[in-house]
Amino acid sequence: MMIDTIAALRQKIENAAICDEETLETFRRDFISKKGVITALFESFKSLPIEGKRVIGPALQHLKSEVEKKFKNGAKLVEAQALSRTTQKMDVTLPSFGPEVGSLHPLRIVQDKIISIFERIGFNLAEGPEIVGDWHNFGALNFAENHPAREMQDTFFIQRNPDKLLRTHTTSVQISTCESQKPPIRAIAVGRVFRNEAISARSHCFFHQVDGMYINTGVTFSDLKETIYYFVQAMFGKETKLRFRASYFPFTEPSAEVDISCKLCRGKGCHVCKYAGWVEILGAGMIDPSVLMNCKMDAEKYSGFAFGMGIERIAMLHYEIDDLRLFSKNHLAFLRQFTACMSV
Ligand code: DAH
Repeated sequence: MMIDTIAALRQKIENAAICDEETLETFRRDFISKKGVITALFESFKSLPIEGKRVIGPALQHLKSEVEKKFKNGAKLVEAQALSRTTQKMDVTLPSFGPEVGSLHPLRIVQDKIISIFERIGFNLAEGPEIVGDWHNFGALNFAENHPAREMQDTFFIQRNPDKLLRTHTTSVQISTCESQKPPIRAIAVGRVFRNEAISARSHCFFHQVDGMYINTGVTFSDLKETIYYFVQAMFGKETKLRFRASYFPFTEPSAEVDISCKLCRGKGCHVCKYAGWVEILGAGMIDPSVLMNCKMDAEKYSGFAFGMGIERIAMLHYEIDDLRLFSKNHLAFLRQFTACMSV
């Protein structure tokens, strides 16, 4: 069938590489010249019945123009090669190509901003490992033995060892910090956390958190409120409203979640805040005295507050990004948008 011959030929033409004079000439001989296959095809076309001509005609014409286009481009390339061979002298006065400059990842930009806000009010950076034992991630934080978050679904255990796991929150650093330091402690911990969740626009198996705490004599809930107010206004702007909602975490009592007025619609309601006018940004509360005792601290003498938030969430609100997966896809087109933003 002629239509099959045309399809096979099209593939052959597509695959033919034109990279120098010799390959250009071979291409010309095989496809363009009077003795080439295309001319032969036009010859056999003449003897087709009229209905056949109607079907084959356009395909044949299309093939011909593809061949001509490829030949033309190839000829241009060969011509440019010849030209550069004759003119290729080094001009040392020409400016050089600058090195490709990378840029900070949006999560890093937001993370640095969060750190600098808390550093301004006396918080130090605390560090902790990503692989921790059950005690640091759960036990010392009052997660009861049968708490659902300990189940295999949520936690990645290492080599089937129930006492070696990828931390599910940076709150684990609160414990290691309290074990190694004495109050007053004003610390934030930043880093990657892991949860065994299906990857979608809204959840991922790894993400980033910031956890903070202040432990001293006489720390109260109003200290927590003041700190969070300061952070929200520095991060999202003075006009941002916030509200505390009662909540529950095993390691804080009382516990709260903090919502801010939606930046996008200024509280009027839009798709980002799901028409509520508010978006949740963090969890917080007064550190449960038993957590302090777990770290061998005198819970009669000291009290403290803690808070924790997801960096992706803050970055998504800040840049109006609606898909969490974009942060880890390494798409240059996405990342290049942040080249100019060294700070948020
Ligand atoms: N660890 C909590 C989570 O991952 C967040 C959190 C809530 C951290 C309250 C805190 C806190 O330090 O006080 O969901």
